[in-house]
Amino acid sequence: MHATICDLITDLVQNSIEAGATETTLTVEERGTELAIVIADNGKGMSAETLERAKDPFWSDGLKHKHRRVGLGLPFLFQTAEATGGTARIESEEGVGTTVEIRLDTANVDLPAFGNFATAATTLMAYGFEGNLEIERSAGAKRYKVGKRGLEEVLGDLEDAGNLSLLKRFFEENEQELAR
Ligand SMILES: Nc1ncnc2c1ncn2[C@@H]1O[C@H](COP(=O)(O)OP(=O)(O)O)[C@@H](O)[C@H]1O
Ligand SMILES: [Mg+2]
Repeated sequence: MHATICDLITDLVQNSIEAGATETTLTVEERGTELAIVIADNGKGMSAETLERAKDPFWSDGLKHKHRRVGLGLPFLFQTAEATGGTARIESEEGVGTTVEIRLDTANVDLPAFGNFATAATTLMAYGFEGNLEIERSAGAKRYKVGKRGLEEVLGDLEDAGNLSLLKRFFEENEQELAR
């Protein structure tokens, strides 16, 4: 279902957007073989009951996909963490927001490939939603940080084709710098 960790990240940030968040922060940090991912939003949040059901692979709120009542994002998250000796935690409060925290061991052979962060980040920035998305990325002592509001101030419409390729290149260059 999910080819890569970046697909999982995309799904989780989309959940925040779909929950009506006006502020979402995505942090993706690599320290040695530890990969820490945090997605925090101020969206509609979940009741304890909804949160429990959301962990079940055969449940979805039935509102988003008319033809598929099966949620995949959160169950996949827990399955991946469990199968690879990592941890996943969700804290959510109705009307306040949701925080998803994941710690994964990149040395574990069963971990899916990381995938292309530049593509995922570009897709999310150009997703066409009202709210703000702040992305913080680090590997060891290197880091970069970028926000949707800030980008819109400089570039204007992020869905514009020219801006999309600029954005993609921006993320690609920053990712290359992290990997160096
Ligand atoms: N960040 C979030 N804020 C509020 N509700 C959420 C959030 N993430 C997930 N949910 C709830 O959990 C359900 C399951 O999520 P998910 O597994 O990604 O499946 P899907 O998005 O396909 O429904 C969602 O339908 C939604 O009700
Ligand atoms: Mg989802």
